Amino acid sequence: MAKKVYITETVLRDANQSLIATRMPFADFAPILGALDRAGYYSLECWGGATFDSCLRYLNEDPWERLRNIRAACPNTKLQMLLRGQNLLGYKHYPDDVVRAFVRKSVENGIHIIRIFDALNDLRNIEVALDEALKCGAHASGTLCFTSSPIHTLEAFAKLAVELERMGAQSICVKDMAGIMGPKEAFDLVSAIKQSVNVPVVVHTHSTTGLGFMTLLKSVEAGADVIDTAISAFSGGTSQPATETMVYTLRQMGYEVNLNDAAVKEVSDFFQPVLAKFLKDGTLNPTVMGTSPDALIYQIPGGMLSNLVAQLTAQNKLELLDEVLRETPRVREDLGYPPLVTPMSQMVGAQAASNVLAGERYKNVSKEVRAYVRGEYGRAPGSINPALQEKILGGEQPVTCRFADLLEPGLERARAELGSRAESEEDVLSYIAFPAQAEAYFDQRAEAKKHTYSYAVKKLD
Ligand code: CO
Repeated sequence: MAKKVYITETVLRDANQSLIATRMPFADFAPILGALDRAGYYSLECWGGATFDSCLRYLNEDPWERLRNIRAACPNTKLQMLLRGQNLLGYKHYPDDVVRAFVRKSVENGIHIIRIFDALNDLRNIEVALDEALKCGAHASGTLCFTSSPIHTLEAFAKLAVELERMGAQSICVKDMAGIMGPKEAFDLVSAIKQSVNVPVVVHTHSTTGLGFMTLLKSVEAGADVIDTAISAFSGGTSQPATETMVYTLRQMGYEVNLNDAAVKEVSDFFQPVLAKFLKDGTLNPTVMGTSPDALIYQIPGGMLSNLVAQLTAQNKLELLDEVLRETPRVREDLGYPPLVTPMSQMVGAQAASNVLAGERYKNVSKEVRAYVRGEYGRAPGSINPALQEKILGGEQPVTCRFADLLEPGLERARAELGSRAESEEDVLSYIAFPAQAEAYFDQRAEAKKHTYSYAVKKLD
């Protein structure tokens, strides 16, 4: 019997985030939710990541209401979100009561699968969110950030996967946020994980460097059960490989992919003019649709490379780029080989640039790198260079416990701060996640209610 392969469609979240900085308003995709629901996807990645911030900051939307509306229009499809473990949707650690409430409300409002990761693969930062997801009856997808380094061996990744399964993860996701996982690396890694766990394996990559299709195909050959793709209009470049092309390929290779092709075609046709609109108004910069293999040469994510170029250009020191690119892996080694994902990619890049520009290594150390070395982001994957640790900390002891254990509960305080401006627990969570943006949104909402303007969302279907 042909092996079945399942598809997660990313158009509403990662494709939207990667190509147009998450600027797609709900109204732009509302008419196609019915077809997305009929398509038969394993899941629809539609929430979390940057969608939450973008709703409040740019789109004047309540992210929770968006989720409920998607839920109402897609009753047959599992809705999926991306969650940064203890950091929820941001970059700082939140106390456990906030993490649990956020997960519970996400599930109550319609999320079924929560993909939970930590930038350092420190599983202590995943633990609470994962536990709460299970308690709420959601599917917790334990996620590993892919990176290559001397310590990120197949054994090390397999061990993390086993640990995630033991913690209760119902699937293991390999997350290649920068699109630098090659087909052979994917094949070997998925094989190693499949041999170590019983739960399904999911693979997430990006087309940035052009490896995406090959990486997904080899992942499936190694036994991956679910792959992430984006409907063609919103595929390629910094987004995911195209859904239709991948499905065509897999079927030709003898895999069974149970998608409703007519519905997928409908989705595909629908998003062409949506993309054209963003191209026309400048939201979509066509360069992000291209292929940039530079990330493979330098082994750093494309976004990090463009940040370095921008940083050096601003200081009129672009001639130092080569030197900074040589310094980058040394800084990463000193910091114990963190995966180069936000915020580590920015921290490592900025530190490397600073080391070169100052003409002395670690003459200036950023606040973020100090916090990292103090253990405030979690445990470094490898060991931090002891001399650097000594230089930064002096006699101070680094934090060795889970950082969130040091935090006071946050829900009650936020509730008190907001008072009557919060209309729901969801409002309190929006405020905790993005205080200024949430307050601005609440004010606008209150203002709109004063007028006869009706915000009632047209019932879908
Ligand atoms: Co991604």
